[in-house]
Amino acid sequence: MGSPAIAILGTGSYAPEKILSNGDLAKLVDTSDEWIFSRTGIRERRIAADNETTSQMAAAAARRALADAGLTAADIDLIIVATITPDLPMPATACFVQDLLGVSTHAACFDLNAACSGFLYALDTAWAMLGSGRYRHALVIGAEKLSSVLDWKDRTTCVLFGDGAGAVVLGPARGTAQIIGTKLYAEGAHARLLCIPDGGSNTPAPVLDALRTPRTITMKGREIFKIAVREMEDAARDILEQHQVPAARIDCVIPHQANLRIIGAIAQYLELPSDRFFVNLDRYGNTSAASIPLALDEARRSGRIKTGDTTLFVAFGAGLTYGSALVRW
Ligand code: ACO
Repeated sequence: MGSPAIAILGTGSYAPEKILSNGDLAKLVDTSDEWIFSRTGIRERRIAADNETTSQMAAAAARRALADAGLTAADIDLIIVATITPDLPMPATACFVQDLLGVSTHAACFDLNAACSGFLYALDTAWAMLGSGRYRHALVIGAEKLSSVLDWKDRTTCVLFGDGAGAVVLGPARGTAQIIGTKLYAEGAHARLLCIPDGGSNTPAPVLDALRTPRTITMKGREIFKIAVREMEDAARDILEQHQVPAARIDCVIPHQANLRIIGAIAQYLELPSDRFFVNLDRYGNTSAASIPLALDEARRSGRIKTGDTTLFVAFGAGLTYGSALVRW
């Protein structure tokens, strides 16, 4: 007997109220709406309140996903939070989410760090755990408070990112909807191209105060751009070939929302019209692990994804990690 079919039973998302436009950013650093929009496609992003945590945003998205799935916290026995901005270095943000939602102590809860590919890594992990038959319903959440790890004086990074959360509920397939496949990769040789260079165990607590290196995101943008296009193309091509799905049969692509020019390059490679790609980065910027589930939830709620559709998810992120997933609805 094969593994049971597992499907996405519900989706939810949350974005903080505060909007920071490109015009607002131009008052902070030497930039302009024209530069940011033409290079990235971003117009504005959401910024969490000072006292708003990653776990609170994650829980808000999860509540909506549970309602969409017609389930309650009592049904959940696994929570995975993909994030690079945990509430605290320890314990896992997933444990705070468990507490906020009132999920049973019998649930397994942990965080996963694969940066912007984090949601796909968490989806793959939860799918395998549910497929084993040892867990029944999982909350898979991508949540980030990236505003807390940005250098607001660095125009090369602070204009790109935003805060938010997206969640899905995974469980036994109820009809023909199901996860068809996932594929994950990493190229650790490029780990330093995009990182937070300090604040981990490389800098023991007693010397933290004497730090001269930043505890904020640093990035070699141009190098990342080229590698990201190649990685996302590879991830998309591999999964389509593996499952013998012609690109033309994909109803909707949900790409990691980092840069409209990267998405355009993937569309060209797959020979798909750009309207086949769901894009909301103009309103949210790059929300890292939250990016795909936030876009997915908007795509479903706007009717862009319908029963019977096949969607392709494709992402890249720090690590450098990358990956893809095929899902039927
Ligand atoms: N406003 C105005 N000028 C700027 C800004 C800004 N915000 N940022 C950089 N510039 C300047 C640079 O200083 C440079 O000036 P110079 O020519 O005088 O030296 C010029 O603009 C061009 O800079 P580039 O870096 O070459 O610009 P590019 O066209 O490559 O665009 C960008 C930069 C948008 C960062 C692009 O390279 C990119 O999107 N890369 C991918 C990055 C990415 O997606 N990272 C997220 C990874 S996901 C994760 O895991 C977090």
